[in-house]
This record gives sequence, structure tokens and C-alpha cells, in this order.
Amino acid sequence: MAETTTQREYWNGDAGERWARNQRSIDAVFAPLTEILFTGAALRPDAPVLDVGCGAGDCAIRASRVLGGRGRVVAADVSGPLLAVARERAALEALGGAPIGFIEADAQTHAFDSAVFEHVISRFGVMFFDDSVAAFANLRRALVPGGRLTFLCWRPLAENAWITVPRAVVLPLVPEPEPSPPDGPGPFRFADPEVIGGILAAAGFLDITVEPIDRDLRLGLSGGAATGEAADSAARFVLELGPVSRLLRDQDDEVRERARTAVAADFARRAEAGGVQLGAACWLVSAMR
Ligand SMILES: C[S@@+](CC[C@H](N)C(=O)[O-])C[C@H]1O[C@@H](n2cnc3c(N)ncnc32)[C@H](O)[C@@H]1O
Repeated sequence: MAETTTQREYWNGDAGERWARNQRSIDAVFAPLTEILFTGAALRPDAPVLDVGCGAGDCAIRASRVLGGRGRVVAADVSGPLLAVARERAALEALGGAPIGFIEADAQTHAFDSAVFEHVISRFGVMFFDDSVAAFANLRRALVPGGRLTFLCWRPLAENAWITVPRAVVLPLVPEPEPSPPDGPGPFRFADPEVIGGILAAAGFLDITVEPIDRDLRLGLSGGAATGEAADSAARFVLELGPVSRLLRDQDDEVRERARTAVAADFARRAEAGGVQLGAACWLVSAMR
């Protein structure tokens, strides 16, 4: 991301549109990780939940179903395009569950109701703050005493084959990317578990645990497809979303097409049983107010 682009601009621009367009495949690809998040959070029916960086609403809708009619979910995001998809989906998919209030808000500074939420959850939505200590202190205030924060974030890039494999194919086709500062907002902001622990402790959290999670992700909407189709779908997924898409952000259509063809060819060699599976490495983080 260019230095002058704020997170709000980034997630309301092309990136937000791409995430909104790919909502169905994102939720399918991340499904094994979503299971881990919900098992770890162990939400209780009727206990209010705040979903941070809710994106297109998958976790908020699932939380609404777990909570049932007497619960309450608030889901916050800075991205207008993603919230529009989330609201549309919730109208159809969260019927009978807890009501969901989607709000366009910066979770770092938004004045959430104090001490009302039993859980704050996030699937990859808390790594993008300018001031992480201030942001987590703000989220802590929204929790009831004894309430829990549970989130997923990425371990280092090098441990995530679903990113390193296509990245290695694309790198020779584009100019050398600028290294991103490890302490700036971005997907690998919390790659180092000591950083997570330090930030959460400084924000006032107690009983902090950081557990490594490894899962294979089936990329794209490739279940049951022929090998070529599965490889194409998986290539589109990694090139539209996440760190590899950032390599192509300023490239013209010809470079993008060469990248897509090269990644699809690599994935076709790896496809098995109609799908492309590569490893993902995350942290499951839990902390108490
Ligand atoms: C990697 S996406 C994850 C979205 C969603 N949780 C999911 O798993 O599909 C990160 C999300 O965090 C949101 N975000 C980034 N900075 C934010 C902030 N300061 N406050 C609220 N949301 C933020 C983005 O708009 C984006 O929807």
C-alpha cells in the first residue's frame, strides 16, 4: 500500500471492492480457521458480542446464530463496500438469530458502549490499527469485566505457503516490492507473538494466550472442479486478495494476466482431487478484561 493511503481509503477503494466481490470464496477458504475462532471463543447464548473488522459479515452472522434471539451482535468495520454486502447477507442469513448492528466505525477510536460485551471477536480484522495499544484499550473498555477478546491473526509470511508459493511465482514478474515496516498496520503486524503479548498487556488485558494454528486451506471455489478450473479459481483467489494482490496493485493488465497464467500453471501441478490446498499458519489469541 502506498504510504499516503490510509487504511480507511484502502478498504473503501479497490481492495474493499475485491473483498466484497469475493465474499463467498473468502468464507469458504477460511472456513477451517473460522471453526477454530468459534471453538476458541466459545460464545455463550445471550451474551453480547462485538465483531471487529467484520468485513462482509460471515463471523457476525455466525455469532448471531450462536447467540439466538435474545443476544446482540455489533459488527464494526471501516469499509462501506464490505458493510453493504454484510447488511444484505444478514437480512437473509441471520433470520431468527440475535440482531446485528453493523456500524461503519474505526474500532481504534469509536466510542462503543462501555462494559457491555461479553466477547470481542475478530477474524483477521485487528492488524490494521495505527496505534494498536490505543485500539485494544478501546476494545477492552467495551468488554464487561471478565469478558474475553478472541482473534485470529497471521503468523509470519514465510510460514504461510498459501501466500509464499504464488508470491514466488509473481515476484520475478514485478519490480522488487518495498519492505513493509514490521510495526506498521498490515496483515503481518502480529506475526511475532511477543509483540501481541506486549501490546495486549499494555492495553490492560490479562490472561493472554497465543496458540499456533496450522491448517491447509483449499483455495478458490475449487471443490470438485476439474484440475484446470480448480487451478484458475485458486489463482484468481490469491491474486485478488491478500499480500500477493498487493504486488500487482500498480501493474498493468498485461502483467496481471501473465501473473495469473503463471500462478494457475503452478497450481495446476499442485491440484489434487479437484482442489489446490496449501498451508496457512495463524495465531489464535485470547485475552481477558
Ligand atoms: C483482512 S479483512 C478481514 C475481514 C473479515 N473479518 C473476514 O475475515 O472476512 C480486514 C478487515 O478489517 C477492516 N478494518 C481495517 N482497519 C479497521 C479499523 N481501524 N476499524 C475497523 N475495521 C477495520 C477492513 O475494512 C477489513 O474489512
